Amino acid sequence: MPKAKHGLKEKLKDILSPSELNLVYRSYDIVGDIAVIRVPDRLVEKSRLIAEAVMETHKHVKTVLRQATPVRGDLRIRGLEWVAGEKRTETIHKEYGCIFKVDLERCYFSPRLLHERMRIANLVEEGETVINMFAGVGCYSIIIAKHSKARKVYSIDINPEAVRYMRENTKLNRVENTVEPIEGDARDVILERLRGVADRVLMPLPEKAYEYVEYALKALKECGGWIHYYDFERALRGEDPIKKVKEKLSKRLRSLKAEFTVSSGRVVRTVGPRFYQIVLDILVERPRG
Ligand SMILES: C[S@@+](CC[C@H](N)C(=O)[O-])C[C@H]1O[C@@H](n2cnc3c(N)ncnc32)[C@H](O)[C@@H]1O
Repeated sequence: MPKAKHGLKEKLKDILSPSELNLVYRSYDIVGDIAVIRVPDRLVEKSRLIAEAVMETHKHVKTVLRQATPVRGDLRIRGLEWVAGEKRTETIHKEYGCIFKVDLERCYFSPRLLHERMRIANLVEEGETVINMFAGVGCYSIIIAKHSKARKVYSIDINPEAVRYMRENTKLNRVENTVEPIEGDARDVILERLRGVADRVLMPLPEKAYEYVEYALKALKECGGWIHYYDFERALRGEDPIKKVKEKLSKRLRSLKAEFTVSSGRVVRTVGPRFYQIVLDILVERPRG
């Protein structure tokens, strides 16, 4: 999320009325040299003016796209409309010394998860076999391969376009020997070829990870290992979203006869009013009872 938001409002203050200025969203994503802005319905016709102000605020931004729909569907893609600058949706994003080529119209990508990706990479120990069940264009996997001594990072995604970019990204980052992109449904891939091989399983699909917990357990080695489980949770005043996810997931793991300890839980980011993305790090001592 860019820090120069005041710069943006400053640039717009003589162009928009005070009430319009109030409606301008404070944050927007910058992926490589593309900015993705959200514009409230009342300001849609002012999109171009806002986009030009974004480009003035961030001189390296060459394209501004407007997010026309929320991230949606199994592939977690958002509808985008071109607003200003070069007409394209492909870019190259840099993060922690890695480069990610991505087409924002065809693949999921969030620059907001960089710290979480690095946090996971820092946990990986020498010689580990990792399975990333929902790998996208390979961000977690490539950061792990670059910043740890993992033996292998099997990286599954159901979106052929994401897998195509992931293949290219493994080459761009010279981690072809460590990261193995696999196209398919994580459940099928694990059942067909990755049962009992992993020291660590990543589940970065908060909308659906719960449905796939059974397959994460099947992917772990007989002696156990780690699961990084992502979920979304709402929390009313006084409620703890981490505790809610912990209770829900623990119940599920117990029903699958796993022996485990939820080692830690944290809010990865706030995604709406009282709505959070949560990660749990779970040490599974016995995955299959
Ligand atoms: C929220 S994105 C996360 C991508 C990546 N880990 C990242 O952080 O950039 C989830 C990804 O899961 C993929 N996906 C959805 N359902 C899947 C399934 N059943 N099996 C494998 N991948 C799936 C989507 O195509 C999408 O790329």
